[in-house]
Amino acid sequence: MKIPFIKKNISLFKKKQTFNFIDLSRQRKSKNKKGLTLKKIIDKNIQSVFDHGQYILGPEVKQLEEELKIFTGAEHALGVSSGTDALLIALMALGVKENDEVITTSFSFFATAEVISLLKAKPVFIDIEPNTYNIDPNKIEEKINPRTKAILAVSLYGQPADFKKINSIADKYSIPVIEDAAQSFGSEQNGIKSCNLSTIGVTSFFPSKPLGCYGDGGACFTNDLELANKMRMISNHGQEKRYFHTSIGINGRIDTLQAAILLAKLEFYPDEIKKRKSIGEYYSKKLQEIGINSTPKINKESTSVYAQFTIQVTSRDKFQEKLKVLGIPTAIHYPKILPMQPVFKSLDSKELEKTYKIAFESSQKVISLPFHPWLEKKEINNIVSKISETL
Ligand SMILES: Cc1ncc(COP(=O)(O)O)c(C=O)c1O
Repeated sequence: MKIPFIKKNISLFKKKQTFNFIDLSRQRKSKNKKGLTLKKIIDKNIQSVFDHGQYILGPEVKQLEEELKIFTGAEHALGVSSGTDALLIALMALGVKENDEVITTSFSFFATAEVISLLKAKPVFIDIEPNTYNIDPNKIEEKINPRTKAILAVSLYGQPADFKKINSIADKYSIPVIEDAAQSFGSEQNGIKSCNLSTIGVTSFFPSKPLGCYGDGGACFTNDLELANKMRMISNHGQEKRYFHTSIGINGRIDTLQAAILLAKLEFYPDEIKKRKSIGEYYSKKLQEIGINSTPKINKESTSVYAQFTIQVTSRDKFQEKLKVLGIPTAIHYPKILPMQPVFKSLDSKELEKTYKIAFESSQKVISLPFHPWLEKKEINNIVSKISETL
């Protein structure tokens, strides 16, 4: 009779299960076909950089660029210092300058619009589609005028924006299109990889991105040789050859060490993409079973890498607080739409809420749940059952 009593007391001391929003430590334990862990391969790759000592533009950078070309199908790939710098380099290569206008989404991470302003050009914000959270292509054409220098569309949360429609509008006016694929590297639209869906594609290898390095990193992609050459020069101080500068550029090179880490991770990435897809679908199914229907909506011509697994809830603050107590971390991507950021705010709030209705309403309700390719079904079940306790 004493045994159940002891058991009960032990269970009182059982550690509460907590979850990581993203768990990169599990990634390091993944094994390749030869049974080598990612950790081991990264250690070997890093050691080899220490051995040759070419920390800037070493052979790993060239090798990474070759592999990125194969992965995306783009003819040219350039490793750069971050996703933000990739955007900046792309805009500079297109000649964006003071008083130009760049049409972009109202709902993204700040960097998307920041780089436009950094060049003293004007971001012209557009509302989003309700299902994908991406720029609404039907609202682009009315904003095009002789000052429009580019369209910068973001593939948010892992799913490409509607590039078929965006490219056809851009073609009509001979305007180049940039894809900010910081969150969508590895996804596809009509069988074409994100980063290769427009004039220039750029991505970020920030550690928490679907393909991340161990610091800052990014890449630019294009099928246009002239733009590829320009971007390469800009990323290296506008040098045509050593100490011969024919344009103004930046220090925008990717580190050799980060390239070595990415080369190791790239081998594992196709398998991670498959896992991301099946976990995303399972998560959605389980959430729908408890009445949450605001799960990610993926268009039939696209795939998603679920950089974020984002749903919508009302009373978000309370929901977030309750989940925190239950050991489930969450994040808000993003609480404030770009035109409402203090630095961009030109109209009063009520006016902005009306103009960017879908983006604004989304910003009030979106919440991202823990998501990574190593989440197990039983963990998802556990998270979903805790969510159901809060409803
Ligand atoms: C949509 C988007 N654009 C640009 C960036 C900037 O990338 P990075 O942090 O590598 O500069 C990010 C990163 O969070 C992003 O999510």
